[in-house]
Amino acid sequence: METILRIARLGKNYQNAGRTLHVLENISFEVKAGETMSIVGPSGSGKTTLLGLCAGLDRASTGSVELNQVRLNELTEDQLARVRNQYVGFIFQNFQLLPTLTALENVMVPLELRGEKNIREHSLNLLEKVGLAERVHHYPSQLSGGEQQRVSIARAFSNQPKILFADEPTGNLDAETSEKIVNLLFELNREAGTTLVIVTHDLELAAKTDRIIKLKGGHIISDERTHHHTEAIV
Ligand SMILES: Nc1ncnc2c1ncn2[C@@H]1O[C@H](COP(=O)(O)OP(=O)(O)O)[C@@H](O)[C@H]1O
Ligand SMILES: [Mg+2]
Repeated sequence: METILRIARLGKNYQNAGRTLHVLENISFEVKAGETMSIVGPSGSGKTTLLGLCAGLDRASTGSVELNQVRLNELTEDQLARVRNQYVGFIFQNFQLLPTLTALENVMVPLELRGEKNIREHSLNLLEKVGLAERVHHYPSQLSGGEQQRVSIARAFSNQPKILFADEPTGNLDAETSEKIVNLLFELNREAGTTLVIVTHDLELAAKTDRIIKLKGGHIISDERTHHHTEAIV
C-alpha cells in the first residue's frame, strides 16, 4: 500500500524567555493510504502540535514531513495552502470557523477555492449529513459548541480529502451526536478510502482505529496495532 504520510525525526521547539522548549522530539512514523490511526496522550503532550505539522499548517523545527509524496519542508506558504486544499481535511479542536460567514458559507469556502461546481448543493448535503439542515444560515456565534464542531466537520469533508486530521472531534459532543460523527468518519474511510488520523481522549473511539500512537512529553511512547485491526485482517 502507498504511504500517504511519512514523518522522520520530527521536532518542534519554541523559544521562550531565552529558553528552548522542546514540544516534540524525534518523532518518526508512516501512515499508509486508507489506514485509520489515533493519537492519544495527556494534555500538553504535543498532540495538537503534531497534527498541525502533519497537515502542513505549521512548520517543523527539525526533521521532515512528507505528505502524498511531497516534502512539505521545502514548500512556500502558497504551495502548502494548495496541498492542504487538494488533499487535506482538518477538524480543529477549537473549530476555527470564520465568524462573519454562515454555517453554509463556511462549508462552501474550500470548494470555492477549488473552483468546483454545485458548491451550494454539495455543502447543503454535507450539513444535512451532520444533522444541521435547520441551522445552515446561522452564524458561528448563533450555534452551540457541538453545532460549530459539526460545521467544522462538514467543512473538512467538503473537498473529499485523501487524508483527514481530526483534533478531538467528539470532545464537545453529547453521546448521541458523537456516535453519529464517528460513524460518519469511518463511513468516509470505508467508502472513499480516506485516511484518518484522529487525536482523541475517547478510548472507545481509539479502539475503532487500526492503530494507536501514544505521546508523552513530546515523545512517542508506543505505536501499536489495535485488536480491531487484527480482527479485520484474519
Ligand atoms: N505557540 C506556542 N508557543 C509556545 N509553546 C507552545 C505553543 N504551542 C504549544 N505550545 C506548548 O506545547 C506543548 C504541547 O501543546 P499541544 O500540542 O497543544 O498539546 P496537546 O494537544 O497534547 O494538549 C504545551 O506545553 C504547549 O504549552
Ligand atoms: Mg490539543
